[in-house]
Amino acid sequence: MQLKQDDPIARFLEDYERAKIGASFEPSRAALATSSLGGVPSVRYVLVKWVDERGFRIFTNYTSRKARFLDENPRASLAFHWENLGEQVRVEGRVERLSAEESDAYFAARPRGSKIGAWASPQSHEIASREELIALVEEVERRFEGVEDIPRPDFWGGYLLIPETIEFWFDGDNRLHDRFLYTREGDGYRCRRLAP
Ligand SMILES: Cc1cc2nc3c(=O)[nH]c(=O)nc-3n(C[C@H](O)[C@H](O)[C@H](O)COP(=O)(O)O)c2cc1C
Repeated sequence: MQLKQDDPIARFLEDYERAKIGASFEPSRAALATSSLGGVPSVRYVLVKWVDERGFRIFTNYTSRKARFLDENPRASLAFHWENLGEQVRVEGRVERLSAEESDAYFAARPRGSKIGAWASPQSHEIASREELIALVEEVERRFEGVEDIPRPDFWGGYLLIPETIEFWFDGDNRLHDRFLYTREGDGYRCRRLAP
């Protein structure tokens, strides 16, 4: 196969829309790899909430382990796998925190329960029991009782992954898969085919 689309972000968005159709999984789900300054790797799934020509946006607790890694070594990689399309997309690049305005806008759009969860959970920190977590949630519920618009906690927000490379992998017969690596060059991207 050939990739007709020169713009990997447009290509990503097109394929993401196709992946949604009849998917038995959440197509915005991606594995996010980070590394500590000392080179300790770490990977976990996240939901990639918004993608455009600036990059890929994820949201999390800024005191979590991933945030600590992203803040000390602001480079990351994402891998999507859309099994219904037989497609993998890998993104690598530099990471920066989103502006408070962008994080506020996303937080405002979340359901109330997710907002309370964001306030209540000291993500990645040790807790004694599930009861402790429930007690933290109840405390936050009491705090915001009667408050219609729960504000975003300043310890929670987004990161933007600014792609330097985007690779598309398409399942092929006899393991002869197609791979297209887009590398950022100036304002655009250069595309090379890689052996599977
Ligand atoms: C499908 C899926 C989606 C997830 N989405 C997010 C997310 O968008 N943000 C987030 O902070 N954690 C998300 N998580 C939880 C993370 O995988 C992880 O457990 C958590 O963020 C703590 O990771 P850390 O200790 O490396 O910071 C998700 C987990 C799964 C399985």
